[in-house]
Amino acid sequence: MGDDRTMPVLLSGMQPSGDLMIGNLCGALRNWVKLQEEYDCLYCVVDMHAITVPQEPKLLRKRSLDFLCLYLAAGIDPERSTVFVQSHVSAHAELAWILGCHTYMGELSRMTQYKEKAGKQGKNIRAGLFFYPALMAADILLYGANLVPVGDDQRQHLELTRDVAQRFNRMYGETFVVPEPYFPEVGARIMSLTDPTSKMSKSSDNPKSYIALLDPPDVIRSKIRKAVTDSGTEVAFDPERRPAISNLMVLRSAFTGESMEEIREAYAGKGYGAYKEDLGEILVQELAPIQQRFRELREDKATLDRLMAEGAARAERRARKTIEKARRRIGFPARPVKHR
Ligand code: TYM
Repeated sequence: MGDDRTMPVLLSGMQPSGDLMIGNLCGALRNWVKLQEEYDCLYCVVDMHAITVPQEPKLLRKRSLDFLCLYLAAGIDPERSTVFVQSHVSAHAELAWILGCHTYMGELSRMTQYKEKAGKQGKNIRAGLFFYPALMAADILLYGANLVPVGDDQRQHLELTRDVAQRFNRMYGETFVVPEPYFPEVGARIMSLTDPTSKMSKSSDNPKSYIALLDPPDVIRSKIRKAVTDSGTEVAFDPERRPAISNLMVLRSAFTGESMEEIREAYAGKGYGAYKEDLGEILVQELAPIQQRFRELREDKATLDRLMAEGAARAERRARKTIEKARRRIGFPARPVKHR
């Protein structure tokens, strides 16, 4: 139950900045479900991260609830794991400020994700987009997370979190646990269906580039059928020369557990068309139970409200211990008792 201190702690989150998609499932959510067995897990919907780029308020609120339901529908057990919305626990913002004051401009300017996202924002880039890794570090360090399961694109943010934690500990004495990242063996970086040289992204303007977890079966089949392929017909794994089919092989392997060699042998002489038909079917079958559970949960507003309140209370209780310690360490006067 959430507060079980005998197991190592794990935290992860996703931004409600688009439709949760198959890259998020392969890169993170599937591991989240699996790791519940061995870790004391906290999973948050990081709505505060989402506003680093413009969001439509109504849609942000809807998506935050959709994400929470999708976590549960995919197999996160709210009794065992702490599931919550980031903005419900104000200690995230508070610690982000403290950590931001111990993070260097040079470190933040090196973040690839900042450079990529800033490039798409035109001239009014929000300062929050630049500061974002300090908030992510706060999410992780607040709960003393030992492990953070993420996709490959979060590698740099995790390294920065470790650096900032170590710096703070050196300056003020042992305060934060230095976390380890955890990447899936297969599927840490799923590529776009329309451009296999760029990462599949839920915030892409082109919905054909990704499979959303809530896409209806026919849409899934059609998106896979229309996914770009390389010249040639052979189903063989070669990310350099055949990035498109290699990506579709990674997708299959992530769900079936087959090796690339097994997939190649199974499709020898069959061509891309047959391969894509089968892949579409696999994805439809994998997503069907998640979609079914999602629909049931999403309509049950009373249960959702209760789960959100319980998750927030549990997270809040745990976060408070760390924030008070960090405040003491840096020399803030103790908070008057009624404000604790
Ligand atoms: P976000 O919301 O972009 O993505 C959520 C998770 O999905 C993984 N992912 C992918 N994995 C494989 N292939 C892809 N194409 C792909 N796209 C995304 C991401 O690596 C991530 O694990 N900054 C984070 C959210 C965050 C967070 C945290 C994560 C905020 N605070 C604390 C861990 C711990 C983000 O933007 O992920």
